[in-house]
Amino acid sequence: MKGDTVLTAEQLTRHYRVNRGSFRQPAILKALDGASFTLVKGKTLAVVGESGCGKSTLARLVTMIERPTSGELRINGVDTTQANRTTLDALHKEVQIVFQDPYGSLNPRQKIGHSLEEPLLVNTPMGKKERQEAALAMISLVGLRPEHYDRYPHMFSGGQRQRIAVARALMLNPQILVLDEPVSALDVSIQAQILNLIAELQDRLDLAYLFISHDLSVVRHIADDVMVMYLGRPVESGSRDTLFTRPHHPYTRALLSATPVADPFRVKERIVLKGELPSPIDPPPGCPFHPRCPSMTEQCRNTIPPVTEIDGCRVACYHPKLY
Ligand SMILES: Nc1ncnc2c1ncn2[C@@H]1O[C@H](COP(=O)(O)OP(=O)(O)OP(=O)(O)O)[C@@H](O)[C@H]1O
Ligand SMILES: [Mg+2]
Repeated sequence: MKGDTVLTAEQLTRHYRVNRGSFRQPAILKALDGASFTLVKGKTLAVVGESGCGKSTLARLVTMIERPTSGELRINGVDTTQANRTTLDALHKEVQIVFQDPYGSLNPRQKIGHSLEEPLLVNTPMGKKERQEAALAMISLVGLRPEHYDRYPHMFSGGQRQRIAVARALMLNPQILVLDEPVSALDVSIQAQILNLIAELQDRLDLAYLFISHDLSVVRHIADDVMVMYLGRPVESGSRDTLFTRPHHPYTRALLSATPVADPFRVKERIVLKGELPSPIDPPPGCPFHPRCPSMTEQCRNTIPPVTEIDGCRVACYHPKLY
């Protein structure tokens, strides 16, 4: 990716120690196992993959809610894993997050105006009047009305609450927004409005987005680049257009084949995945996808495929489809 890179992740990894009862050793769960990518000003990297593949774990590392087990996370060129407290505090403001359920992230007893002003109160020297002005400006920017300032979260619809969650995330003027399934809880008709708002705000504020979704039709609408994850690892990443028209990894092809797309020129292939997603506690050796892969060979059972560049995409597979 070109342009102004604001964030670089190199082999980002997060392992959890999980207890398995009193008679067994604790196990290591590899929630994220080596993700490398960049985020660029004004661009959206979408992250897709089945439930449990590590998307929200990645979101927590990028927003520095959690520290990686290993790997590097650079924001504006600063390595966050080595940074001191003061530097980290400054970087925290640059990365904000919007969750799937805005109700959970808004205090039900706090008026919207105060909820928006809170980050300013905690992080800036702004006075009361200035904070109020900033909150009102933000309310208007996300398509709400001035009278909403004095209302409580329960007085809003799901779509409006998601507008408020986006507004709150933008109060400190961040460079990066992580959106973890931001429209998954909304009705389809409302989803489009919120996606349009998110796209508009990106253009106006030159924001870099890490957009997490399991819905490929949403991703197709919003992404510049896409990273497909499987069991904690990116298996294919590249530009949206290449990935949707010429997917190389068998897993990407299987995901796309399960999604209805209105494209008369695409030859419709139907790939049905065998079996269940294995546990990240005891992932299969070799390529993690091999037990479910239609192209699997002996080599895939034994060694993890290295990432290679094909057609501008980064693909971890011994048998990618070539076009
Ligand atoms: N704090 C934790 N301790 C132990 N295991 C965890 C922890 N957080 C996540 N995991 C495990 O890590 C794996 C990845 O979880 P994660 O929430 O990142 O997946 P996800 O891709 O966001 O899934 P979903 O699409 O359902 O939101 C899962 O197996 C999950 O159970
Ligand atoms: Mg998640």
